[in-house]
Amino acid sequence: MANFLIGYSPGTSLIQPGPTTGSAGSFAFNGCYNAFRILYQDVATFNKLLQDQTSVITPIIGGTPDDAQEWLAAKLMGRWRNGSPLILSPNTPDPATEKGELFSYTESADTSRYKDVLSTNKCPYSAHTRVANPRDEHLTPIEGATPPRIVRRGMPYGPTVTGTADDGIDRGLIGLFLCGSFSRQFEKIYGWMNTNNFASDLAGLKLFPQDAVLGNRNPNKLSNQTTSFTIPVENEEPIIINQLPLMIQTRAPPTVFCPVSPQSA
Ligand code: HEM
Repeated sequence: MANFLIGYSPGTSLIQPGPTTGSAGSFAFNGCYNAFRILYQDVATFNKLLQDQTSVITPIIGGTPDDAQEWLAAKLMGRWRNGSPLILSPNTPDPATEKGELFSYTESADTSRYKDVLSTNKCPYSAHTRVANPRDEHLTPIEGATPPRIVRRGMPYGPTVTGTADDGIDRGLIGLFLCGSFSRQFEKIYGWMNTNNFASDLAGLKLFPQDAVLGNRNPNKLSNQTTSFTIPVENEEPIIINQLPLMIQTRAPPTVFCPVSPQSA
């Protein structure tokens, strides 16, 4: 609770939601911050990316072109479309894990170096869910021991689209991202999405990858990032997709203070 609601002792947490004193503290008590976002999703471009890679992926994983597209979609996101996390169900969207929440990115078998490497065969470092919540991954010392968390609520807007042709219609996600500190939670995660420099295993790279789905590929915003996406594959050379396209764009970014009643907290 101390990571989200203003007015409580943060203990050893770095988040420290505030203000906590004076009239501002009284006003803010039991509130939190809300990043409201309207995020355009270029679904046709996402679908085209999946389609374009089938000839590369099918010879490696076997199966049909549709299987290859679903496999790549899951690698980009970190979960299959039914919700199954890649870490729990690396090869198929198993209904038994579709609500899976309890999993980690470290594995016990590899004692030779940071253990995160083994799990990338299942879920790439830059998959969206892994970047947005690296869980128990070994973070670089500057990031502290545990990754920031946020509370998310969202809904889609606009009509659905299938296929690879852009119909020019606006669509995407209306999202609320609640936190106790914009800079240490929401913006920190956004920063990681644009530059995947949070994990010890990635430290030292010359060019950092980006969140496979959310990364901002605007050439004017790229300096130490690469738009290549690496998918490690067990006993094979990794698949590298160069020049990931821009798939998400922020349409509306106002941020507001959000009072919350103690009952709903
Ligand atoms: C259109 C934009 C976005 C799409 C399509 C998207 C999609 C998804 C999906 C499908 C999941 C997995 C299901 C779930 O846990 O709910 C997920 C998880 C998550 N997303 Fe996003 N997301 C978007 C934007 C964002 C943004 C802007 C943030 C934060 C700044 C964010 C943070 C997270 C977090 C923290 C998780 C949970 C990861 C975990 O605990 O394993 N997402 N997202």
